[in-house]
Amino acid sequence: MGSDDAVTRVFDAVAATAPEVRGNLAGRRSYLDAENPSGESVLDADVYADDLLEERLTAVDGVGAYASEEREDVVEVGEGLSVTCDPLDGSSNLKPNNTMGTIVGVYDAPLPAAGRDLVAAAFVLYGPITTMAVARDGTPTEYLVTGDGTREELRDVELPDDPVVYGFGGRVPDWPADFESYAREVESELKLRYGGAMIGDVNQVLTYGGVFAYPALESNPNGKLRLQFEGTPIGYIVEAAGGASSDGERSLLDVEPTELHQRTPVYVGNREFVDRLEAALA
Ligand code: AHG
Ligand code: MN
Ligand code: MN
Ligand code: MN
Repeated sequence: MGSDDAVTRVFDAVAATAPEVRGNLAGRRSYLDAENPSGESVLDADVYADDLLEERLTAVDGVGAYASEEREDVVEVGEGLSVTCDPLDGSSNLKPNNTMGTIVGVYDAPLPAAGRDLVAAAFVLYGPITTMAVARDGTPTEYLVTGDGTREELRDVELPDDPVVYGFGGRVPDWPADFESYAREVESELKLRYGGAMIGDVNQVLTYGGVFAYPALESNPNGKLRLQFEGTPIGYIVEAAGGASSDGERSLLDVEPTELHQRTPVYVGNREFVDRLEAALA
């Protein structure tokens, strides 16, 4: 990764901000009297993280726009790359003090932009240690994010060939019959790993192999997760790691967005399990 380009500057800024996000979550565990553009309740911590990341990322030389799931509109600051952000993914895990993350997509196109316009994507995982997975030009790299916000390279992220874990969101009665029968098969083959934060669950799949899904639901055929802020950046990372992504019919990177906050079903993991999923829903 070039040390002097805008994409590198974006990820350096994300890493530099991560300790501040993590270090200021305590005391911000209350829900505000507000809804985000997806109509979901908003934690004090969601707004805190979004404001911090918006300030830091719009200040990066070469960034022209910032958008997040917590904001209705794109923040335009000039010419350059479009950065999307899920400032705190899995923020409902703050109360039970469980894992959460930050997701960033870097698009070389105006928003809303398709996954094929991604030039890079990353997520920060606030686990027992803070790590950051960065995908750009091929195999993703996992970094340790140090307390002073620098990145130390740990490993290449390659999806293991032998899948071990699965995690499926939503409630079973809300699963369409075709997904439920697929889920029953997978449950008989793999071990359940579902922690309620996409980033934590996806990192289980990237580490051990398997499949994560937040499926189309009877109550909402577009599922729960947002294409622009969760689906395409994570699909890009999983595909770069040698896996596959799908909205049930096609790669998440091939879904043409129609509006910034649209939801999409998300299925990511080993190619075998994504192919079987698409066959089950066909
Ligand atoms: P966010 O905290 O950014 O709103 O995302 C929460 C998402 C995602 O992280 C996770 O996979 C899913 O919500 C969990 O949903 P359930 O609580 O329905 O399991
Ligand atoms: Mn949320
Ligand atoms: Mn999220
Ligand atoms: Mn979020």
